Amino acid sequence: MFKTFWEPMGLCLALLLLALETTVNSQSCYGTPGLPGMPGTPGKDGRDGQKGVKGEPGIPASPGTQGPKGEKGEPGIPGVGGKTGPLGPPGMPGDPGIKGPPGEPGISGNYKQKHQSAFSVIRRTGQHPDKNTLVVFNHPIFNPNQDYNTTSGKFTCRVPGFYYFVFHTSQTANLCVNMYRNRERVASFCDHKSNNRQVSSGGTLLHMEAGHQIWLAVNDYNGMVGTAESDSVFSGFLLFPD
Ligand SMILES: *[C@@H]1O[C@H](CO)[C@@H](O)[C@H](O)[C@H]1NC(C)=O
Repeated sequence: MFKTFWEPMGLCLALLLLALETTVNSQSCYGTPGLPGMPGTPGKDGRDGQKGVKGEPGIPASPGTQGPKGEKGEPGIPGVGGKTGPLGPPGMPGDPGIKGPPGEPGISGNYKQKHQSAFSVIRRTGQHPDKNTLVVFNHPIFNPNQDYNTTSGKFTCRVPGFYYFVFHTSQTANLCVNMYRNRERVASFCDHKSNNRQVSSGGTLLHMEAGHQIWLAVNDYNGMVGTAESDSVFSGFLLFPD
């Protein structure tokens, strides 16, 4: 490189002088130079340059805003029915139905059966009955319609009419037997014990309505027994039906 201003200036001057000398020499040998030629046609386009470097990333786009709410759609098709639920608790019982028609008349009964009533029952125990209580004759001798109940100790009238009731009792102590019809005492028989083996008895005729009841009871004198050869029997029979 040139270090000062004057160094290149000096080089230029020397070149100028050389040019002048050359020009003078040529003028002296040949005619005047011609006019400069017409400018040539422009050259072809150069080749494409190298691909440029990738640019900086752009500003991120802002997210779009939500549009207006659309119109309500049509209702969908109803779904398939659900499964059958568990069985509920049973309901309250319904009202009773209408009364049915009366049945056919029954077969007419036998006159004898319809108008018969009789029983004989026996008390089988060596134990005295409790004081002031009903006496139960606990075994039937003859009791075809169970008119006498060997559990409750009561005869219940089925055929109304006049009945005869009678008892024969063995005793090992003083004994009073009372006969009751529907809680009403209708007869009373007392016997003091005066023998080793002693029997006392009593009986009466009574009118009975259907459903009336008869039973025997003891008071404080309760020495009744029912053992071998010392039986106690209570009997009753229909004498005249109503
Ligand atoms: C006899 O009397 C008992 C006790 O009272 C009773 O449970 C039973 O039903 C009676 N039997 C009959 C055939 O009435």
